[in-house]
Amino acid sequence: MYSQVIKPFIQSYNGFASCEGEECFKVTIAGASGGIGQPLSMLMKMNPFVKELSLFDLQHTPGVAVDLSHIETPCKVKAFMGADQRREALKDANIIIVSAGVPRKPGMTRDDLFNVNAYIIKDLAEAAAEVAPNALIAIITNPVNSVIPVACEVMKKANKFDPRRIFGVTTLDIVRTNTFVAEALKIDPKEVNVPVIGGHAGDTIVPLFSRSKPHVSFSDEQIIAMTKRIQNAGTEVVEAKAGAGSATLSMAYSAARFANALMRGLRGEQNVIECAYVASDYGGASYFATPLLLGKDGIKENLGVGELNDFEKKLVETAIPILIENIKTGVDFVNPK
Ligand code: NAI
Repeated sequence: MYSQVIKPFIQSYNGFASCEGEECFKVTIAGASGGIGQPLSMLMKMNPFVKELSLFDLQHTPGVAVDLSHIETPCKVKAFMGADQRREALKDANIIIVSAGVPRKPGMTRDDLFNVNAYIIKDLAEAAAEVAPNALIAIITNPVNSVIPVACEVMKKANKFDPRRIFGVTTLDIVRTNTFVAEALKIDPKEVNVPVIGGHAGDTIVPLFSRSKPHVSFSDEQIIAMTKRIQNAGTEVVEAKAGAGSATLSMAYSAARFANALMRGLRGEQNVIECAYVASDYGGASYFATPLLLGKDGIKENLGVGELNDFEKKLVETAIPILIENIKTGVDFVNPK
């Protein structure tokens, strides 16, 4: 998988980038000055499919943009700062990546972030509905399980909701799973692909080892231990950073991989598949992460949950009531009773 992300970067670094007309895109990053936003902006500046990069944040974007603009790739970088420039930053974007919002500190759950981050997502979704209604919107901001419903409800209110175009970015869960499996098998991570379904917090994160490529024959104890590690991997980073935030570099890589997949879909490439948390309907949960076939309008086909083994069925049974609760938090925020 990573070859699809890294290769274009290397090509662009060597001056081979060629990207013209509809084949290349305007990408807006909201939260561009943050821990995720800055490395993600750099990765997007190096992606030859990106012709224009619009950096939006409440602070520091002019400096980040000038810094990035000196990198020897053709992509144009523009800075937008402050709420007054939100609409202009998002205008006519093909892809909007949102990492605006507060991250966790040790002891916090992702849900603790909702009261601040829900307002940020609401403002951005309202602006996107107005000025970039056809954009594909990839939301990194936590709690993903609740803020994707916020974005979708805002879009519904504006009559601009298209369920094919709004994604909760869960790619880091897949990236971590692939890495941990590759370490266990002592193989190159690019050989590994394990789907991760459900949501993006603790027990809602459900890796499907039964569908791992290559096939893995871990013991039950190994599967249990690895599942726990994947579900807690975000907290592992939060604790290691000891108050300095959550995953930023691995997240920027993951978002770059996901955005690259969205662009490959937009360009009409076949068989582009990534997991993400989207409007869906599974076991009573109206949002659920599954593998998605991507195309010219975002989701071409939701490939669904598919066959699960007994262990995975139990994990999904645990995840669903939590997801339903998380989703209700987001829906109620936009539509208070
Ligand atoms: P950060 O605090 O370093 O950066 C956030 C940026 O958002 C800051 O530059 C801030 O000025 C900006 N911001 C705040 N309000 C804004 C607004 N209204 N409009 C535009 N920009 C605004 O945080 P970091 O580490 O970059 O994390 C961002 C979010 O990503 C957090 O909510 C975190 O929990 C989430 N995250 C999600 C992951 C995932 O797998 N989906 C993984 C890691 C983090």
